[in-house]
Amino acid sequence: MKKFFFVTKNIFKEQEIKKFILSKKNQYKNFRFFSLKEINFTDSIPEYGNSFIENAFLKAEFFFKKTNLPCFSEDSGLKVECLNGEPGIYSSRYSTNNNNIDNIKKLLSNMVKNRSRKAEFFCVFCLKINKKETYFFEGKLSGKISEKISFKKGFGYDPIFIPENHNHTLSEISINKKNQISHRIKAFKKLIQFVNK
Ligand code: IMP
Repeated sequence: MKKFFFVTKNIFKEQEIKKFILSKKNQYKNFRFFSLKEINFTDSIPEYGNSFIENAFLKAEFFFKKTNLPCFSEDSGLKVECLNGEPGIYSSRYSTNNNNIDNIKKLLSNMVKNRSRKAEFFCVFCLKINKKETYFFEGKLSGKISEKISFKKGFGYDPIFIPENHNHTLSEISINKKNQISHRIKAFKKLIQFVNK
């Protein structure tokens, strides 16, 4: 059995990964991950890098240095074409009070005068197996930003992101459906396939 800690405090990200593994339990029966709660890891995790990769690395490295335990971390965000890739690595801290609704409102108001609504979610996982072995896995999901906000399920920018070839936002579909197309699961599949090799 291969065991790793998932270095995240984001319960939504954790839930998506958990559901994905459950849905594939026959395929991934040699893989188990633990959340930080299981060892009462309460330190705040650094995220001051200049790129998704750097942030993912900082998170995994921080946890590994403190615990010496194999782990993986994740950094992700939304890149909007007409905003030159903003909010990018600042997706969770886009508005002044870092609040989800305000982040969405700021994004929509910044886009009002622009024609292109094209956007992309990007995700990178960092897998830290031991002191010397660190690996990265990426995934993306293309789509567009909706005009209206649809608060139903999900987190972050789910209420305004419509994936390519879809008519609804990520907030209007189940986690299992989101997992079939998401940037996070695309990247995570690469990680788990690598670990299972
Ligand atoms: P971080 O990786 O902790 O910096 O957080 C990533 C941020 O990007 C989240 O807080 C969301 O604002 C946004 N984000 C990343 N992935 C998703 C997603 O699947 N749905 C909605 N928002 C996301």
